[in-house]
Amino acid sequence: MAILGSLLLPLGLFLCLGLLCSPASCISHNGNCMLFNKVIVATCSGIHANPNVYKSNTVYTVSVPVNKNITSVILRAIDQDNSLIGSWQKADKYCSSSVLYHMKSRYSKLFEAKWVSPSFMNITTVELQVFTVDLHNVARVSFKILRRNAKSLANRAFLSPMRDAIQILLVFLTSKLLF
Ligand SMILES: *[C@@H]1O[C@H](CO)[C@@H](O)[C@H](O)[C@H]1NC(C)=O
Ligand SMILES: *[C@@H]1O[C@H](CO)[C@@H](O)[C@H](O)[C@H]1NC(C)=O
Repeated sequence: MAILGSLLLPLGLFLCLGLLCSPASCISHNGNCMLFNKVIVATCSGIHANPNVYKSNTVYTVSVPVNKNITSVILRAIDQDNSLIGSWQKADKYCSSSVLYHMKSRYSKLFEAKWVSPSFMNITTVELQVFTVDLHNVARVSFKILRRNAKSLANRAFLSPMRDAIQILLVFLTSKLLF
């Protein structure tokens, strides 16, 4: 997948350029994934990634607990510089800074998606961000950190860039509504 060669734009701008889609397909794929009525930061994420350490050019299975109220799941992956990285497979919608999957069955207990990490070697930390969106358009956001070595439990250093990223995302989604 030819992606993410030179991501120099800050988050929140129009990130189409070679990111989640090629320029040709961007025309149909860009646009906001969804507007939320409310975003709640989930205290206990329940996200699993397999493998659970970061490796280049690897297919990850990302799973998230869901319930019958969840209508869609929105995902993104960012590196230590807050750049969007990798590619999500078979999403229903490829938006400018995230991808969206519709829940196919109300009876699912676990949602799964495949993410492919980029091949370049300079990534040390990846944060997977998961928004589960319910019937009332309320999103619960949770996070999973993947690090290159096995010390993958200390998430705290990442908290503030992560908050920034959410804010930027929300501003971005809101601005998409207005235009
Ligand atoms: C990693 O390398 C790629 C390709 O050279 C570059 O575009 C990207 O900005 C780099 N990322 C980091 C986190 O250094
Ligand atoms: C689903 O939504 C209903 C009505 O809003 C609520 O009563 C119920 O607790 C929710 N179930 C779950 C598992 O969140």
